[in-house]
Amino acid sequence: MVIVRTVEALQKAKKELNGSIGFVPTMGALHQGHLSLIQQARRENDTVIVSVFVNPTQFLEGEDLDAYPRREEADTKICEVAGVDILFMPTIEQMYEKDELCIGAPAIRGYILEGEKRPGHFDGMLQVVMKLLNLSSADRAYFGKKDAQQLALITQMVRNYFMDVEIIPCEIVRDENGLALSSRNAYLSAEEKERALCLSRALKRASKMVMAGEFDVDVIKAQMLEVLQEADRVEYVAIVDRSFKALKKVEIGNTIILVAAWVGKPRLIDNIWI
Ligand code: PAF
Repeated sequence: MVIVRTVEALQKAKKELNGSIGFVPTMGALHQGHLSLIQQARRENDTVIVSVFVNPTQFLEGEDLDAYPRREEADTKICEVAGVDILFMPTIEQMYEKDELCIGAPAIRGYILEGEKRPGHFDGMLQVVMKLLNLSSADRAYFGKKDAQQLALITQMVRNYFMDVEIIPCEIVRDENGLALSSRNAYLSAEEKERALCLSRALKRASKMVMAGEFDVDVIKAQMLEVLQEADRVEYVAIVDRSFKALKKVEIGNTIILVAAWVGKPRLIDNIWI
């Protein structure tokens, strides 16, 4: 595995490559969820590039940019064992210059749900993903469905800017109790981790209701909110179609049910695709 920290070194390393490139962008603190993306990229491509970059432009004022877990040594080992070819770990100076040209999230889809609660987050996320996709020259790039709205916006960016890369959505990885894996789970105490399970329980309740024939979004949301009482604060429960339009009735094969809630220090998100 080659570790590169500059754009120049990455461009140089890429010159040696033949065949397809699979790319997994991350902010580090790698866990089983990231590993499953890397493994899929490994199976489907000749070369795998992983980036580890805690992108400052997607954190809002007062969010956890400084506290965000950084585990460079462990991340390097995980990538090595997973058969990554190139690990790109740039500095902020390598990635950004002052007075940058910016990319904006779309006016509606980019400013609901996560975009409403974290205004500006998606602008910064799209900006860095555009840079990383260009730098990697990937044929395929792998993103988890846990960040469902992020995935939808990246797919839209690739479509709107005619970028020559296939975006591959990957399944959510959960721990043995059902908690969706996230680097921010590291902030949870044992008691909070137990309460955090209410997110996946609420989604399971919703999915059971749909399977039993209940399609009314308001009825499902009300039941989910009951289960979510264990959270410290629920930010939203939403039932949308795959293009993030709000639904009145669940549409089988075209629905995403999402939840965002605070449990202790972290704000957690989770979803299921129906
Ligand atoms: O999902 C993430 O970890 C980040 O938003 C990403 C896609 C690596 C961009 O910084």
